[in-house]
Amino acid sequence: MTDKLLSESLDSIKNCSSSTELEELRVAILGKKGSLTEALKALGQASPEERKTLGANLNQIKQEITDALEAKKASLADIELGARLVTEKLDVTLPANPESCGKIHPITQVTEEITAIFADLGFSVADGPDIEDDEHNFSALNIPESHPARQMHDTFYLQGKGDNKTVLRTHTSPVQIRTMRAGKPPFRFIAMGSTYRCDSDLTHTPMFHQIEGLVIDKNINMGHLKGCINEFLRVFFELDELPMRFRPSFFPFTEPSAEVDIGCERSKDSLKIGAGSDWLEIGGCGMVHPNVLKNCNIDPNEWQGFAFGMGIERLAMLKYGIPDLRTFFESDARWLSHYGFDPLHIPNLVGGL
Ligand code: DAH
Repeated sequence: MTDKLLSESLDSIKNCSSSTELEELRVAILGKKGSLTEALKALGQASPEERKTLGANLNQIKQEITDALEAKKASLADIELGARLVTEKLDVTLPANPESCGKIHPITQVTEEITAIFADLGFSVADGPDIEDDEHNFSALNIPESHPARQMHDTFYLQGKGDNKTVLRTHTSPVQIRTMRAGKPPFRFIAMGSTYRCDSDLTHTPMFHQIEGLVIDKNINMGHLKGCINEFLRVFFELDELPMRFRPSFFPFTEPSAEVDIGCERSKDSLKIGAGSDWLEIGGCGMVHPNVLKNCNIDPNEWQGFAFGMGIERLAMLKYGIPDLRTFFESDARWLSHYGFDPLHIPNLVGGL
C-alpha cells in the first residue's frame, strides 16, 4: 500500500505541467487531509511492531515525495521564466514614445535675451519689490505729490498715507533708487520685472513688464546713451544696422529726456523693423536728473549718467510677430505652444557684440 502511494505520487508529480497544479498536488499529498498525512494518522491504529517498520517506511516515502516536489518546482519555475521571457520581449531599437514638453513664455524668453545682451555690455541685473512705497515709486524720482506726471501713471494704491503709502509699482524706475541707495557709484545695471497700471484696453494690460537701465559714472554723456540703446536694439532685433532717432520728451527723473524711435516699414498688414520710411516708438530715456542723484546721496557735480525704460511685451511682439498684447496673459496653452519657445532654444544673437 505504501509502495502504491509512493509510485502514484511520483507519477503525478512527474506529469504536473504548471506550478499551480504542483502546489495543488502538494496539498493533496502532504496537506492536512493529504493522502500521506492520512496514512501517517492511521499509524495510531497499528500494533507497536507494525508501527515501527511502517513508520520508518512512511517517513522515507515522505522524504522522497518532498524531494521530488522540490525538484519539480525548480524545473517548472525555469520553464515558466523561459516562457515569460519570450512573451515579454523588449525591443530596445524601437523609437521612444513621444513626450509632451513645456514651452518657455515669450516674456521669459525675451527677458533672458535682454539679460544676455546687456551682460555683454557690462551690465549687472538689479531687482526690486512689486509692492513699492510712494517715496521710491514717485517722490525720490523727482515726482512730488502734486506733480501732474502722477496722473499719467494710473496707480493701483494699496495702503497707508504720504510717503509710506504703498502702491503696485507703476514702472521699474524705483529700482534705480533702491540700487543707488544701497551702493556707491559707478553703477551699470538693468532691472526687469512686472509693473502695474489701472488700465486695460487693446494695447494695455493692468500688469505688464518693463526693462530699466541705469549707468552712473564720470563724464557720461548723451552719446553714450544713444550708442548703448542702439547697440542693444540692433543685436536684439538681429540687424546689422538699425536706424534710430531720439525725440525730445519729458520725464521728471531725466533731463534732458527723449523718446526712442526705431526705423520700420509698415505695409497693409505687416510691420518690418529696420530701414524703412516709418518710425516706431520703443521706449523712453534721458540723462539722470540731478535731483534723483541728490535723493540717493550722490553728488551730481561729480557723477552723471543716463537711464532708459522699455516695455518687454512690445519688444517681444515686434521681434516675434505676436499681434495681440492681451493674449500674453490669457494662459491659453494653445497660444503658448504656438508662440512659446523650446526650453533648449538658444536665441540667435549673431552680429552681436
Ligand atoms: N519709467 C518710465 C515709464 O514707465 C519709462 C522711463 C523713461 C524710464 C525714461 C527711464 C527713463 O529710466 O529714463 O513710463
